[in-house]
Amino acid sequence: MPLLPLLLIGLWLAAPATAASAAEGDREFAQGERLFERQCRGCHSLAPGVHRAGPSLHGLIGRRAGSVAGYDYSPILEAADHTWNAATLDRFLTDPDAFLPGTRMVFWGLDARSRQHVIRFLEHATR
Ligand code: HEC
Repeated sequence: MPLLPLLLIGLWLAAPATAASAAEGDREFAQGERLFERQCRGCHSLAPGVHRAGPSLHGLIGRRAGSVAGYDYSPILEAADHTWNAATLDRFLTDPDAFLPGTRMVFWGLDARSRQHVIRFLEHATR
C-alpha cells in the first residue's frame, strides 16, 4: 500500500475521540449503531417490553441492573447492585463474565474503541 493512505488511516485511528466535533460525534454514533446491529441486536431489542435471548435495552441508562419486568435474569444479574451508565457498561462489555461472574450473557467482549461507540449509541437509542 502506498504510504499516504496508510498515514491517513493512522491519523484517523489516532484521532482523540474526546476532542469530538459534532461531525465526529455523528460518526461515532453511526459506528455504534452498526456495532449494535451486528453484535447486540440478535439478542436485544430496543423496544420496551420486547425480550429476546436477552432483555429489552429500552430505558437502559440509569436503570438498575437486572430490573426489567418480565425477563428471567440469572441470579448474579438479579442480585447485582449496579446502575447502568457509561462506566458500568464499559466494564460489563469488556468482559461480561469477569464483571458479573455467571451471567448468562455469553459475549467475548469488545475492544475499547468499539465499547465507546456502542455506549454512545446506547445512550441515545435506549431513551
Ligand atoms: C448471545 C446473546 C447476547 C448478545 C449477542 C448480547 N447480549 Fe446482552 N444479554 C444477554 C443475556 C442472556 C442477558 C441477561 C444476562 C443474565 O441474566 O445474566 C444480557 C444482559 C445484558 C445487559 C444487562 C441488562 C439489564 O437489564 O440489566 C446489558 C446492558 C446488555 N446485555 C448489553 C448488551 C450489548 C450492548 C450487547 C452488544 C455489544 C449485547 N448485550 C450482546 C444476551 C446477549
